[in-house]
Amino acid sequence: MPPNQRSRSLLQRHRGKLLISLTGIVALFTTGSVVVFFVKRWLYKQQLRITEEHFIKEQIKRRFEQTQEDSLYTIYELLPVWEMVLNENDLNLDSIITQLKDQKNQSTRQKSSESIESSPLKTKAELWNELELKSLIKLLTITYTVSSLILLTRLQLNILTRNEYLDSAIKLTMQQENHNKINHRLYDWVTSWWSNPQGKMVDSMTTKKLKKDGQEVYINEQAFLSLSWWILNRGWLDYNEIVTNQIEIEFQGIHPRDTLTLEEFSSRLTNIFQNINSQIFQQNNSSLISIFLPKGSGGQEFLLSQTLDPEALTCFHSNTLVFNQLINELSQCIESTATSIVLESLINESFHFIMNKVGMKTMAKKKPGQEEQQNYQMAVFSMSMKDCCQEMLQTAAGSAESGSVNEYLATLDSVQTLDDLSASVYSNFGVSSSYGFKD
Ligand SMILES: *[C@@H]1O[C@H](CO)[C@@H](O)[C@H](O)[C@H]1NC(C)=O
Ligand SMILES: *[C@@H]1O[C@H](CO)[C@@H](O)[C@H](O)[C@H]1NC(C)=O
Ligand SMILES: *[C@@H]1O[C@H](CO)[C@@H](O)[C@H](O)[C@H]1NC(C)=O
Ligand SMILES: *[C@@H]1O[C@H](CO)[C@@H](O)[C@H](O)[C@H]1NC(C)=O
Repeated sequence: MPPNQRSRSLLQRHRGKLLISLTGIVALFTTGSVVVFFVKRWLYKQQLRITEEHFIKEQIKRRFEQTQEDSLYTIYELLPVWEMVLNENDLNLDSIITQLKDQKNQSTRQKSSESIESSPLKTKAELWNELELKSLIKLLTITYTVSSLILLTRLQLNILTRNEYLDSAIKLTMQQENHNKINHRLYDWVTSWWSNPQGKMVDSMTTKKLKKDGQEVYINEQAFLSLSWWILNRGWLDYNEIVTNQIEIEFQGIHPRDTLTLEEFSSRLTNIFQNINSQIFQQNNSSLISIFLPKGSGGQEFLLSQTLDPEALTCFHSNTLVFNQLINELSQCIESTATSIVLESLINESFHFIMNKVGMKTMAKKKPGQEEQQNYQMAVFSMSMKDCCQEMLQTAAGSAESGSVNEYLATLDSVQTLDDLSASVYSNFGVSSSYGFKD
């Protein structure tokens, strides 16, 4: 056999094998490049996704910061309203001061009491006693109520904001799948946050049904937000009662002319704080929750009748699902140990603030030649407390000319545990009983 014939037959004999392995190699190369192609595309998509995720995370973080700021502004809006409530409830210290000033003008007093009023005016001693008692009561009532209000507002706004961005995120995902217009939708979503922080994203295709649902949700959220009405009009009275009892015990027998050192004053105040705290943070006692929330459906109805107009109230009654969910979450938060700890930190912070302010104001009232003096009349402490109350309730409008912020609110707002609690509420996706802070 000639050699090339032999090789041909060899080729012929192995032709099938060769073809198979060649196909194999081609297939291998093809598969390889396809794999590389897909890997590249996958990597590219991952990259996009990471960028988007990063972007969304940034937005969520920004929204968190904005929510905490909004909470503070809300308190600024609410304080003047509450100040009016306090004044109507016999805690108007300025009116006592006015009466004291009138007292100096004896002739005016005598004339007016003889000619106009049947009821005799209070004596100077009575007025000073009244100032002592009421400045203490007001100072502590402000402390407990404002601490609770700032906590309540943080909880409310963080719960609502989280629901809102969860809604938006779910909508976004669905829209991505349907239309694949990622950037446009993302843009809508983000701009809707910026341009209309309270508003919901309203799609142009929304049907009437959706609009009705939207309105119901909106009214449900309004009802939820109106809970601050409760604490400022009813709940605070519970604090007022507890505070009054403790003050009467601790300052009994101390008259406006009696003198105390700063340390003595501080230690009496410490006792009061400790006793009040042990009452409100008592285990098995629902006194705290009844300060924050109306009791039972009767209380709730009363609150809503005070805060919603009749039309909204009717709409609210047609569907209360969202409201009930929000209230459930809020109640669980308020009853959690974490919340009690935060409230206690806010109260502790308030105590330091008060002692600092009252101490400074009292020392500043020393007359020349009294620099060495360590004892102060209770009446001087009362005046300092009155001034301190005024500062704690001061809002932007009242201090426009000085351009200053409310130092007390700023102090409370920067308490670290308050931020921690807010963050845990804001990022609580497993909405139900599984709170990170439930004990
Ligand atoms: C004090 O009484 C007199 C006489 O009634 C009156 O003219 C005067 O304005 C009063 N002063 C003050 C500060 O009220
Ligand atoms: C809870 O404590 C407050 C304050 O001590 C008290 O007035 C109230 O009666 C207590 N409530 C219950 C249910 O024990
Ligand atoms: C407090 O509550 C727990 C659980 O609800 C109960 O077992 C306990 O008896 C209560 N204690 C008091 C003093 O009421
Ligand atoms: C508040 O102050 C009291 C007394 O100084 C202290 O025992 C308590 O641990 C403080 N609470 C918080 C939450 O910081």
